[in-house]
Amino acid sequence: MIKTNKIVIIGLGFVGSATAFTLMHSSLISEMVLIDINKEKAQGEAMDLNHGMSFVKSMDIKAGDYSDCENADIIIISAGPSIGPNETRLDLANKNSIIIKKIVDEIQKYTKSSIILVATNPVDILTYIVSKECGYNPKKVIGSGTVLDSSRFRYLLSKHCNIDTRNVHGYILGEHGDSEVAAWSLTNIAGTRIHEYCPMCNLTCTKDEREKIFHEVKNSAYEVLEKKGATSYGIALSIRRIVEAILRDENSVLTVSSLLDSQYGINDIALSVPTLIGRNGVHKVLDLPLEEEELTQLHKSANKLKETVNSIK
Ligand code: 2OP
Repeated sequence: MIKTNKIVIIGLGFVGSATAFTLMHSSLISEMVLIDINKEKAQGEAMDLNHGMSFVKSMDIKAGDYSDCENADIIIISAGPSIGPNETRLDLANKNSIIIKKIVDEIQKYTKSSIILVATNPVDILTYIVSKECGYNPKKVIGSGTVLDSSRFRYLLSKHCNIDTRNVHGYILGEHGDSEVAAWSLTNIAGTRIHEYCPMCNLTCTKDEREKIFHEVKNSAYEVLEKKGATSYGIALSIRRIVEAILRDENSVLTVSSLLDSQYGINDIALSVPTLIGRNGVHKVLDLPLEEEELTQLHKSANKLKETVNSIK
C-alpha cells in the first residue's frame, strides 16, 4: 500500500497561507486540508492553490473542518493574531493561549496520534501548553521555535563572511523571541569552528560585529513587521523544512521548541535547542556542550518563559 501524507493547516493568515503554498511545491504531501475560523477564507485559499495544480505534483487540497484531523500525519497550527505595533511575542500569551486550547480540544476529538506543529506566537508558551495541559504526547508536539532564527543567523553570517549560507552552521537557542541566545561556540563554517575559521578569512569579525549580527537576527522580525505588517515566507519555509524532516523520518537536527526534560539542566518548559526530528516527532533532544555564558543566558531565557507561563490568566 502506498503511504500518503496528509497535512492539516489551522489558521490561514499570512503564515498559514504561505505555508500551504510552500507545501504545495514540496512534493512531500498528497493531501492538504485548510481550516480557518473564516470558512470562506479557507475556501478561497484552497481554490486559489488548486488553480495551480497543473504545475505541481498531483495532490488533494480542500477547505475542511476539524473532523479532517483524523488520520492527519501533521497538524500545523498557525491561528491567532500576530504581533501588533509595540508588542512582543510574549504579549500575545494570554489571548493566543485561549485560542490554542480551544483548537487542541477540537483536534483531540478526532486524533491523538497526529504530530502537532505549533507556529503561533508565543510559540514556546503555546508548545508548552499543548504538551503539558492538553494531555497530548509531548514527543508529538513541536514548536517551530528558533528554526527561523537559526536560518536568519546563518544567512546574516554568510553575508558577513561572503560564503554560501549552506556552508554556515549555527544555532539560535532558547525563546523564539527577545531572550534568545546565539550559540557561537557551536557555530562552524566549512566544518571549522568559527574562532578557527575567522583568522583564515580576510574579513574582520570583531566582538562588536558578532553582536551586531546577533542583534539583527533577534530584531529582524520587528523590522519586517514594521515594513510589511507580517512575516510569512521565512516562517513558511521553516515549517516546510520541519515537515520534510518528519515525513521523511530524517532524524535531522533542527532547533525546534519542545518540552525539555533536564537537558541543559532545564525542566518543565518548552524552548528551542538542537533536536533530532523524524517520523515520530521529537526523537531526541540533544544535550550539547555550551560555554558557561551561553548556558547562563539559556537559563535566563527559560526563566523568562516560565514567568510568562505563570502569568497567564
Ligand atoms: C518571526 O520571527 C514574527 O515570530 C515571527 O518572523
